[in-house]
Amino acid sequence: MSELETLEQDLIDSIAAAGSETALEAVRVLALGKKGSVSGQLKKLGKMSPEERQTAGPALNNLKVRIAEAIEARRDTLAEAALEERLRSETVDVTLPARPEQAGTIHPVTQVMEEVIAIFADMGFSVAEGPHIETDWYNFGALNIPPEHPARQDHDTFYLKEKPDGSRMVLRTHTSPVQIRTMEGQEPPIRIIAPGRTFRADSDMTHTPMFHQVEALVIDETTHMGHLKGTLEAFCKAFFEVDDIKMRFRPSHFPFTEPSMEVDIGCSWENGELKIGQGDDWLEILGSGMVHPNVIAAGGYDPERYQGYAFGMGIDRIAMLKYGIPDLRAFFEADLRWLRHYGFSAVSMPTLAEGLS
Ligand code: PHE
Repeated sequence: MSELETLEQDLIDSIAAAGSETALEAVRVLALGKKGSVSGQLKKLGKMSPEERQTAGPALNNLKVRIAEAIEARRDTLAEAALEERLRSETVDVTLPARPEQAGTIHPVTQVMEEVIAIFADMGFSVAEGPHIETDWYNFGALNIPPEHPARQDHDTFYLKEKPDGSRMVLRTHTSPVQIRTMEGQEPPIRIIAPGRTFRADSDMTHTPMFHQVEALVIDETTHMGHLKGTLEAFCKAFFEVDDIKMRFRPSHFPFTEPSMEVDIGCSWENGELKIGQGDDWLEILGSGMVHPNVIAAGGYDPERYQGYAFGMGIDRIAMLKYGIPDLRAFFEADLRWLRHYGFSAVSMPTLAEGLS
C-alpha cells in the first residue's frame, strides 16, 4: 500500500470509529485542519517537481474530497442516531395518572358549557357552531337589523379593517348568527343550541370584551311560546339543581324576535350569600322570543309555514350565579390560584345521571 492509501485507510477507520459528533470533529481537525495529516501532504506539493505534482496533485485533492465526504456522511448518521436516542428517552407516557400536585383543572366556563350541553342534549337538542369572525349580514342584516337600525349601537361592535369592496367583517357580538347559518344548512325541524365566544367593546365588573353565550333555536310548524317557557323552566331547574324555581318573563325588544322577553330568576341574599330559585330579588339571565318572520325568511324558510323560538343566555353570567364567583374579569386573568379554587376535576364529565357538578 502506498503512503497515501495507508493514510486514507487510517482516516476512514477513525471516522467510522468516532462515536460522537465531538469525536468526529477531532478526527476532522487531525485530518483536514491546518496542521492535519492531509493538509501536511498537500504542503509537500510545493517541493515537488512539476511532473511529480501533475499526478500527486489530483490524487491528494481527491483524497481530501473523499475524506470530507466520509466525515459529512458520518456526521449525518451520528445526528440521526442522536435524534433517535432523544425520541426514545424523552417520550412522555400520556396514560400515566396526573401527579396530584400538578393536576390542571377545568375552567368554570368549560364546566358550565358541558353542563348546559348535557341538559339540552337530554331534551333532544344538538350542538351547532359558527365562526367568531362574521359578516355584517349574519351578525346583523339577516337578524332583522338593517344598517341604520338603532339596535346596532347597543352592540359595541369590534370591526375588522375595511375590505376593498368597502365591507367590514365583525367579531360576532352574539351567538345569534348561528341561527341563520343553521337554517341555511339544514331542513326544518330544527332544534339546536350554539355555545361559544362572543365579543363586545365593553369592560367593567360585569362585562369583558370577550364573553360566552349559548344560543338556542327551535323551528318547526307548531312550536309556540309555551314550549319556550317550559324548556327554560326545565333547564333552570336542572342547571341550578333545585326542585322549584321562580322565574319572571319580562316583555322586551329584540329585532330578531317578536314578541320578545327577557327572563329573570328569583334569588335572595342571605348573610351575603346568593341563593338561587326563591326570594324577592331578580337576576336577568337571558333574552328570548318567537323568531321574527323576517329572520325565518332570511334563513331560507317560508315564514307562513314555519315558526319557533330562540334565546341567548350568558354563560359566564350563569356560571357566576351557580358557583358564587363575584368578579367576571377574574374568569379571563388566568390566575393559577383562582383556577385551583374555582376549577373542576378534569376526570369527571357532567352528566344528568351522575350529577352535573
Ligand atoms: N342575541 C341576544 C343578545 O345577545 C339574545 C337573544 C337571542 C335574544 C335570541 C332573543 C333571541 O342579547
